[in-house]
Amino acid sequence: MRKYTLLALATGLLALTPLSQAAGNDALYKSLGGKKAIVAVVDDFVGRVAADNRINSFFKATASNPKRLAKFKRNLVDQICEAAGGPCKYTGKDMKTAHAGMGIASGDFDALVQDLVAALDKFSVKDGDKQALLGVLGPMKKDIVEK
Ligand code: HEM
Repeated sequence: MRKYTLLALATGLLALTPLSQAAGNDALYKSLGGKKAIVAVVDDFVGRVAADNRINSFFKATASNPKRLAKFKRNLVDQICEAAGGPCKYTGKDMKTAHAGMGIASGDFDALVQDLVAALDKFSVKDGDKQALLGVLGPMKKDIVEK
């Protein structure tokens, strides 16, 4: 009987915890270089997006408001850090709500991912880590793209 109670408890905890953390799997987070490295990648990435004429019109209001820009970067860092199994908690909106009504097209999404890959390459992020990260972000496309 006790055995089953413990099992139920463990299953409950697992359900509440992101899979990568439940398994104590912060390998990707560590391999990326931890929080500092993620902050550096996000800084570079957002700079590339702001300079990318294919998609920077979406970010006009964000880029022109330092507080808003800082919050956006913080959210991105937390999101990537948590997805990589690091000790962060993303507290922003879910991806569908965050991008609702923006009219983001599939090509816009792909352009943003290209900018992210360029940032990851700049910091010599290993191929396997890059694939792992894109593997987490890729499935978000269906919640972000509206046309
Ligand atoms: C995997 C791809 C993407 C991820 C992980 C992502 C992530 C995020 C996050 C975490 C936020 C903040 C949500 C909040 O404020 O609570 C956000 C907001 C936003 N995203 Fe994305 N996004 C992605 C793709 C895109 C694309 C393709 C575009 C447009 C081309 C875009 C445009 C925006 C804009 C304009 C905001 C609002 C920023 C602000 O608050 O000022 N996103 N995104």
